[in-house]
Amino acid sequence: MFGFALEQRSIRKTADECLTCLRHPYGVNKSRTYLLLGLGTAAGALLGRLLPVVFANASGVAQGLAGLDPFAQLIQQHRTLLSVLDKMEHLTAPDWAKRRLLFLALKRTIGKHALAEENVVYPLLKTQAERHESTQKLYREHASMKIHIFELEVAIRSTDEWRDAVRALRSEIEPHAREEEQTEFPRLRELLDKKGATQLNRKIRQEEALVI
Ligand SMILES: [Fe+2]
Ligand SMILES: [Fe+2]
Repeated sequence: MFGFALEQRSIRKTADECLTCLRHPYGVNKSRTYLLLGLGTAAGALLGRLLPVVFANASGVAQGLAGLDPFAQLIQQHRTLLSVLDKMEHLTAPDWAKRRLLFLALKRTIGKHALAEENVVYPLLKTQAERHESTQKLYREHASMKIHIFELEVAIRSTDEWRDAVRALRSEIEPHAREEEQTEFPRLRELLDKKGATQLNRKIRQEEALVI
């Protein structure tokens, strides 16, 4: 009988301790802290992804209102790409780290550039300037460049193959950029009023901002 009473008391004590533990303010605060930390991290990540796009939108509008040619930055990127290709071709020592850095710089610039052209400029070229055939050709050339970029990465450890791949990519980019600058961009430029140019500036900056 005495033993049974002791056992009952022991069970009640353990249950009370558990309840105390559950109600303990530190336990509740800890869960809340983790939840808030999780929400804060998610919100920060979302903000980090969205803010560049919001800023790019605003800067595109500002550039358009200031009368900046919507194609100026794309043309500047052509120069940057050709200059990076020059450096890649004339690297003297087989410096893998430098090759890798130049390759990443090239890939990032091409990524931003291609996204803006394929998602904004070429659709306008096709629908507004009615350059149906030329637009398809430009898309095909971009696809071919992407294969050359893949081959360039594969060739990164072989000096001869690397140089051949750089030259092959340059032979794709150079005439393509010339055609855009001398023929296609001017056709589209002719059709744009100030409002259209501002819109185009904004959309191009927005697409570019999607590539970090
Ligand atoms: Fe292009
Ligand atoms: Fe281009």
